[in-house]
Amino acid sequence: MKVTVFSQVSIDAKLTLGRGNSSKELFQLLEDEDIRFIHEFRGTVDAIMVGRSTITADNPSLTNRGRSGTTPVRVIPSRSLRFSKESSVLSTSEPTIVATTRAASDSEQADRIRRCGKEVLVCGEDKVDFRILLAELKTRGMRHLMVEGGGEVNWQLFDDDLVDEIILMQLPIIVGGLGNVSLADGDGYREVSGVKRFDVQEVISRPRHLLMRFTRCSSAADASLNLPAAS
Ligand SMILES: NC(=O)c1ccc[n+]([C@@H]2O[C@H](COP(=O)([O-])OP(=O)(O)OC[C@H]3O[C@@H](n4cnc5c(N)ncnc54)[C@H](OP(=O)(O)O)[C@@H]3O)[C@@H](O)[C@H]2O)c1
Repeated sequence: MKVTVFSQVSIDAKLTLGRGNSSKELFQLLEDEDIRFIHEFRGTVDAIMVGRSTITADNPSLTNRGRSGTTPVRVIPSRSLRFSKESSVLSTSEPTIVATTRAASDSEQADRIRRCGKEVLVCGEDKVDFRILLAELKTRGMRHLMVEGGGEVNWQLFDDDLVDEIILMQLPIIVGGLGNVSLADGDGYREVSGVKRFDVQEVISRPRHLLMRFTRCSSAADASLNLPAAS
């Protein structure tokens, strides 16, 4: 399954204006054509995934509101299953899969999600194992997953080497903020030999942002930096 991480980021790779805030504010800085581009891309994929915290902060519909293309399945990993009644991913008719743990799947919250007509899919014991989740999606005929964040979900996918492509719409702004959400959070890498490497495929200057596309580093030789041994 192809996995594309697709995000709107600031120059300093922040995803939002302060942890817990909605990233929808950033969309005001884009043009209508840019929003159309996001929807057209959604119309090319089989599924769209965001973490449960993004549902809480943004309440996104995660639908393709372009004129054509697919109706992607919305996929939300969550251990807590804490969704408000107003969550669009539960209240609108497009399909949603909530991926969760075995224990959580027996809870009252899980039953509430099922009563909304949405699927609860067990993909691990203590947390969702993204390899299991991707394999499940593949068995349902899905071939391309778009991941729209946030930083916690992105980090795990990068760390598990599951990301094939990154598309960034980089806004010419600095947000700052220690502890703010960035493209990839998690523990981070402290050795250059450990970092995940990507090839630059395209950089396009658009009026309100820089559009960048990266793909998984193609060369095994490039994947390791071949640092000289310490003397
Ligand atoms: N600029 C953009 O393109 C963009 C895009 C998306 C989001 N955002 C912003 O990013 C922020 C949210 O990012 P975030 O890093 O805080 O959170 P996140 O990645 O959206 O969601 C984290 C949550 O997802 C669930 N989760 C993640 N990994 C899991 C696993 N392996 N197993 C089970 N559940 C798992 C957990 O939910 P439970 O707590 O329910 O267990 C966890 O608390 C929001 O402010 C949003 O506005 C920006």
